[in-house]
Amino acid sequence: MKHLIDPTDLSVEEIDGILNLALDIISNKERYSEACKGKKLATLFFEPSTRTRLSFEAAMMELGGNVLGFSSADSSSATKGESVGDTIRVVGCYADIIAMRHPKEGAPMLGSMVSPVPIINAGDGGHNHPTQTLTDLLTIKREKGDLNNFTIGLCGDLKFGRTVHSLIKALSRYEGIKFILISPKELKVPDYIITEVFEKNNIDYEEVTTMEEVMSKLDIIYMTRVQKERFFNEADYVRLKDTYILDKSKLKNAKETLSIMHPLPRVNEISTELDDDPRAAYFRQALNGKYVRMALILTLLGVNV
Ligand code: CP
Repeated sequence: MKHLIDPTDLSVEEIDGILNLALDIISNKERYSEACKGKKLATLFFEPSTRTRLSFEAAMMELGGNVLGFSSADSSSATKGESVGDTIRVVGCYADIIAMRHPKEGAPMLGSMVSPVPIINAGDGGHNHPTQTLTDLLTIKREKGDLNNFTIGLCGDLKFGRTVHSLIKALSRYEGIKFILISPKELKVPDYIITEVFEKNNIDYEEVTTMEEVMSKLDIIYMTRVQKERFFNEADYVRLKDTYILDKSKLKNAKETLSIMHPLPRVNEISTELDDDPRAAYFRQALNGKYVRMALILTLLGVNV
């Protein structure tokens, strides 16, 4: 039995297999419509979500399976003091696979140690978000045609943004990728990403504080929201929240082939005036999330179509 807790739990070959399966699902939706008949997915969300939870649920429904779960800790027995381990042991009696989001880093890992069924980390605190990473990789593959040889700018809250941490870890295993990290000094990527990912693997990276100085070099710009819920101090959040707002004027020197990505939800980081720009990939990205989660569910359940 395999769980997905960290993006590196999957080898590059396994990731490529999941992405190729997602592409096949996109082309042959009908063929997969009963693939998970009789199977149940539990979505245990101890923290809010729109895309991740609903795309998981839509994914299982489109595979012919069923879903159960809760969308906030308040509606679960966590409020009575039940541990994550006990919750997982119990839900594992009712479901064939579990997608779990939790504000505490490491909670899905803890769950996986006692789970009788596969556990998928649907986001743990500011740590990892591996299924967003699969979504991002499928989006890059569809938008760019390749997961190698490009320059990506990661912009915004690189300290608390779990999507950024997971994406860097996953992309670091592909060839010829240059990372440009765009953040205020207070929101730089954690030191372990610099030492354990970039420096250890001799990966090309650069840290800057404005998007304008690097825009012309970018093949992809990956915008992120300042993670209000992870700040200890409201004043710091207010001071930093609108540091970067991507709008038409900022794209003056951008490539015509640029892809604009964002894991969403967006607050002010991308002006809505860009939503109709063909380079805006973020809503296509959200749709890719459903297909890649269908592929992941099939893979972890060992269902072959
Ligand atoms: N991208 C993402 O994780 O969105 P949600 O928080 O809405 O699930």
